[in-house]
Amino acid sequence: MSTTEKITVSAPAKLFLLGEHFVVYGAPALLTSVGLRNRVTLTPRTDTNIQIVSSKLNADLTLTQDEILKKRDLAEVEWTNTHADVTSEPLDYAVISIGEAMKYYGKNLTSGFDVEINSDVPVGAGLGSSATTSVTLAAAVALFLGEKLDPEIINNIAYEAEKRRHGNPSGADNSTVTYGGVIRFVRDPKTIEPLGINIPQELARNFVLIDTGKPHESTGEMVAMVRTLREQNPDLVNSTSRRQADLVESLIPVVKTAQIANFMEIIKAGEKNLESIGVVSDSSLEIIRAIENLGGVAKICGAGGKTGPTGILLAYHPERVRVEELMRKSYPKLHFFTAPLGVEGLRQEIA
Ligand code: PMV
Repeated sequence: MSTTEKITVSAPAKLFLLGEHFVVYGAPALLTSVGLRNRVTLTPRTDTNIQIVSSKLNADLTLTQDEILKKRDLAEVEWTNTHADVTSEPLDYAVISIGEAMKYYGKNLTSGFDVEINSDVPVGAGLGSSATTSVTLAAAVALFLGEKLDPEIINNIAYEAEKRRHGNPSGADNSTVTYGGVIRFVRDPKTIEPLGINIPQELARNFVLIDTGKPHESTGEMVAMVRTLREQNPDLVNSTSRRQADLVESLIPVVKTAQIANFMEIIKAGEKNLESIGVVSDSSLEIIRAIENLGGVAKICGAGGKTGPTGILLAYHPERVRVEELMRKSYPKLHFFTAPLGVEGLRQEIA
């Protein structure tokens, strides 16, 4: 039985405080949700079709339920053969996410629905935009089918969709987006450990998020590049991974108790480790060094980039305004902003 009510769900963006890339090979990562949300509204239809509208992608598509399930099945086969991004059209990922949820619940939909995706999360910036889409769509379909919002189930459905987009994702993105807050994540055995903390104000108030732009390389390509490096130079990647893992573990108490100097030291060393595996482009390196010269720290968040922009940089300075002044003066074309960290994860919005 499907509902006849309108349903709205939302989920936050996410960022890696530390541990990206190495998390793919089993190292722990520390992530936080970010207060930019993706909202999905589902409205039941009188026929059995499904319409998907994305304001951000300026795209609109109407399909039958069979077409959605077929697309999901094909994507799985193609992904199994290639382990590559198999979402070439703008709304492919949304179709696959809905298809994954329909398959999981295996129920007949007696009516169709329209879904409208309204996201504040920049695409391709390392803030988990795709994860917010799969998590919210899976949740909307679950509620439409009269199921309760079980975060574990929604997270698993979203992870299936994430694989079709990112090739070999760790699952950290969808987990942070689903659960929200600050979490320690390990891929295998899957560990999603909520720290149950608010990042203390002394620390939280001095972050700046800098948008360097959409990387030329996709997340899947960056992950594949690191995999190749790991095959060619296992000692470099494995020893760096061990150092990063130690940094992640020491970062946890440091964040909890807002030890500013230690926090900065760890972020700086963590960024250096990311640089040593080639995921920080020259243009982003220049900005990061400029922030360090001012007495701050900064790092890429997520997959990074090799040749151009690297998505969002997480910058921290005991006086945030110093970073903001630098950006205005030396990088006037780059957008920067602040956003609350550690916000609530997936939730149903009450109309
Ligand atoms: O750039 P994003 O937000 O897609 O994050 C990718 C993070 C990686 O660790 C590089 C890959 C992963 O799946 O965890």
